[in-house]
Amino acid sequence: MKSKPKSGDRLTHQWISFLLLLVCAPISYGQLPDVATTPPMGWNSWNHFASKIDDATIRAQADAMVSSGMRDAGYLYVNIDDTWEGERDVQGIIHPNSKFPDMKALAAYVHGKGLKLGIYSSPGPKTCAGFAGSYDHELQDAQTYAAWGVDYLKYDLCGLREIMKNSGSPEAAHEIMVNAYVKMRDALRRTGRPIVYSFCQYGDDAVWRWGPEAGANLWRTTGDIKDNYARMADIGFGQAGLAKFAGPGHWNDPDMLEIGNGGMNFDEYRTHMSLWAILAAPLLAGNDLASMSSETIALLTNREVIAIDQDSAGKQGDRASAEGPLEIWARPLGDGSKVVGLFNRHPGPMEMQVHFHDLGFRNAVKVRDVWAAKDLGSMESYKAIVPAHGVVLLRISGS
Ligand code: GLA
Repeated sequence: MKSKPKSGDRLTHQWISFLLLLVCAPISYGQLPDVATTPPMGWNSWNHFASKIDDATIRAQADAMVSSGMRDAGYLYVNIDDTWEGERDVQGIIHPNSKFPDMKALAAYVHGKGLKLGIYSSPGPKTCAGFAGSYDHELQDAQTYAAWGVDYLKYDLCGLREIMKNSGSPEAAHEIMVNAYVKMRDALRRTGRPIVYSFCQYGDDAVWRWGPEAGANLWRTTGDIKDNYARMADIGFGQAGLAKFAGPGHWNDPDMLEIGNGGMNFDEYRTHMSLWAILAAPLLAGNDLASMSSETIALLTNREVIAIDQDSAGKQGDRASAEGPLEIWARPLGDGSKVVGLFNRHPGPMEMQVHFHDLGFRNAVKVRDVWAAKDLGSMESYKAIVPAHGVVLLRISGS
């Protein structure tokens, strides 16, 4: 005969259920607040500072993010890239090196400005710059980041490549890589802290196909950008065909911005910003925010261009047509309008024409020149002289 449960047993059961709930809560996926519902915006230390960063540099960039108006334009993340890492202690816990005496205090400082803090690591034993990676310490590192108050992790393949190479086959190497990214995904989720997860593995093995499932909020689609037109254009225009893989919470990442670093002229930087907005790309400034010209600030903070990038429908644009170096790109926006970029990749000015019926419109459409902030009227086609390496960016509405 079954005995009636005593009230003490019931209490014990309730306690066990409660404890189980506490333990399991952080690993039941999907209950953390959504991150990266629009492409992340912020700043990253690598393109300008590389290894020349420390606590003071990061604080100064956070200060400048606010005083320049970047924060109010939507830039949020202050991301420390490679070279912050120090040694692990006997328990295996990672500590920053002497350039970063107190990561928790730095996070608090950044948060105090209404901004968020990002950090960098690798699934391999070493990062690209040869510092300690997270290999075999994923859970510990995720917990350390969460305890510091980190909001964003860029996870850079580098050191794992050696291990992948020794695996014997491309299939085995692929599995090692995916498992490593999934491992950190789970570790981050276990912390219970919403942390944007950025894959940096240069687009290998068509990461856009498996990245979202492996937890990526964004994934680099290429190798590193450089501060020159040829490399920026190669990467940016090379994104054709990737639009269908992006959407709210998961974005193609053609790498960080070079605007303001000095290697391109005004028209080229304007192309950079326009193309990244059409691509629904993360907008991570990569310049020294503390010494920006007003021209650079104007390029980075143009509200209409940022609104295109951040459009909540999250549909990435794509190439609509190409005539040699003359490319027309278009992006549908949530309000039914379209953004059209007339890009001239030729090293001299060229006339370009767009017929709006080629972009799916039947009638005359209203046209606005975005950079000129000027309504141009109603028309069926538009012709303009586009500067060398430049762009004319239009916002089109109609049917
Ligand atoms: C790789 C990445 C860069 C940067 C460096 C740091 O090259 O692609 O964006 O993070 O590593 O070492």
